[in-house]
Amino acid sequence: MHRVTACAEQCADSHLAALITAAGAAALEAGAILRDLYGKPHQINHKGAIDLVTEADVAAEQAIIAHLNAAFPDVGFLAEESSAPPTAMPTTPCWIIDPLDGTTNFAHHFPWFATSIGYAEGGEIKAGAIYQPLLDELFLAGRGCGAWLNQKRIRVSQTAELRQSLLATGFPYNIKEKIDEVMDALTSILPRTQGVRRAGAAAMDMAYVACGRLDGFWEINLKPWDTAAGLLLIEEAGGRVSDFRDNPFSPIDNEILVSNALLHGQLAAILTDITY
Ligand code: IPD
Ligand code: CA
Ligand code: CA
Repeated sequence: MHRVTACAEQCADSHLAALITAAGAAALEAGAILRDLYGKPHQINHKGAIDLVTEADVAAEQAIIAHLNAAFPDVGFLAEESSAPPTAMPTTPCWIIDPLDGTTNFAHHFPWFATSIGYAEGGEIKAGAIYQPLLDELFLAGRGCGAWLNQKRIRVSQTAELRQSLLATGFPYNIKEKIDEVMDALTSILPRTQGVRRAGAAAMDMAYVACGRLDGFWEINLKPWDTAAGLLLIEEAGGRVSDFRDNPFSPIDNEILVSNALLHGQLAAILTDITY
């Protein structure tokens, strides 16, 4: 818990510091649940043809909501396993929660998943936490205060040319309908880079752009719980977040492009031609 408060205390705004503390503590609590359940047999149900939900998604979400509700009883929730995807950003204060980002990985015992918690007020993300429990890596951010990985301040990479970049993308659950567009984007971008990863947890892709391990990331059809915390991490670490045409991004948008800022124009120039 010290690693959470040590970052939060660096925010002059005490309300924001309390929000970061709550998000970080709830993410650690959820992560402990995921770590515990990871090696055990899973109960797997289908939300869609390839969209899974396990006992761990539900247990982690319940723990997060209980924790945050006790800390901030007046704040609402947008949580993947108990809320419908919204058509507009909430205007009242709201936690935006993905209890287990990377459920398909988790269900297959592929060790790449995270908990993501964002806090939105007036439609803007103000605080965020992403926790990878198997690596014990906790990413935190507060609007105007900075971004941290396990207490160390993080910055995006300095890579300025695509041919020196390592990028990531994801494949949406409606891949059958969008396969041509998804492959068009990959075909256009992949040969210009040192590599494109598709590891299966969008929140981690974004956290990795924030800390400079990746130089950029794009995907379609993500939901606010996938992107809320990650976008703040990237902005606070000096990166950029937009749609494919370099317009301002909202977590309800259907496309997201994030980068270290230096590569943003080059990536948007390619993606602007892809129509989804
Ligand atoms: C999914 C993961 C994946 C991305 C999908 C997301 P979930 O989230 O982030 O990387 O490609 O689009 O929906 O369902 O594992 O929480
Ligand atoms: Ca997710
Ligand atoms: Ca999820």
